[in-house]
Amino acid sequence: MSQSPTWNRKDLIDVEPLDRAEIETIFTAALAFKQAMETDNKKQPLLDGRTVVNLFLEPSTRTRLAFEVAANRLSADTITVTSEASSLTKGETLRDTARNMEALKADIIVMRHAASGAPNYLSKVVDIPVINAGDGSHAHPTQALLDAFTLIEKLGPLDGKKITILGDILFSRVARSNIACLQRLGADVTVAGPSTLVPKRFETMGVTVSHQLEAALAKADAVMLLRIQHERQTATHFPSIGEYTSMFGLNKARAKWLKPGAIIMHPGPINRGVEIDSELADSGQSVILQQVTNGIVIRMAVLHLCHCAQHGQSPQLPG
Ligand code: CP
Repeated sequence: MSQSPTWNRKDLIDVEPLDRAEIETIFTAALAFKQAMETDNKKQPLLDGRTVVNLFLEPSTRTRLAFEVAANRLSADTITVTSEASSLTKGETLRDTARNMEALKADIIVMRHAASGAPNYLSKVVDIPVINAGDGSHAHPTQALLDAFTLIEKLGPLDGKKITILGDILFSRVARSNIACLQRLGADVTVAGPSTLVPKRFETMGVTVSHQLEAALAKADAVMLLRIQHERQTATHFPSIGEYTSMFGLNKARAKWLKPGAIIMHPGPINRGVEIDSELADSGQSVILQQVTNGIVIRMAVLHLCHCAQHGQSPQLPG
């Protein structure tokens, strides 16, 4: 085991406050876990005897399973709690739910919630680490980290690289976290889509706003597609799904506007035939499933680093 650079945060609520060195510390740990998995595929003993609670109060496939796999690969025990199967349905508060988890000797809470700010609130009412697995339209820090980690694997350092995020930017926590993370790593970010879902005010975040699909695709080293977040929209922002697809869906003809070697990303879940054609999602240009696999080692890194910060320990990495 070798030492890794310092990490002082017990919680990961957002990617926004992280500096480049902190993001690179997560990547160093993730890479060490990835190399260890590829060589001997053994579990790491770093969270042996610890319990990770996955408190998922909004649906999830990739994030919940990747946190569960990551915790298991670090030798932790895992418990998954969903809103339907908890006493939240009987009126118990989030604070009481979390404090009961702490009383039951949970060591880390991983939380997804429909309300922006819920994980931040939770981190103030419990002493154990809280990791945000996506809150409302606010932040999805581990998604942004795994996306950037995958981009670096494919494109090398991101300084000056042009990344286009295409789709429902307005309601997307993935877009907000990716903008912050990619900018911290030196990338040049464009957000694209219909003006109702990609308002000009996003320019205040330092990104280019584009409503011209061809131009936004032609300059991109990578395009990241986002689905329409119906669950967070209170009004329609375009006439119909069919019209959205006809204007902004990525199909084979429009993919020709991309540079040779440009990669296609999507955080999932994909709505095939809406924001992306099936053939493209499954093509050699797509790294969608590689993003999912990298989600394991990014979450191993975050769980390990936050646990070490909580206990005043130095991170221990394989290799
Ligand atoms: N990318 C993502 O957050 O997917 P899930 O909603 O399935 O976790």
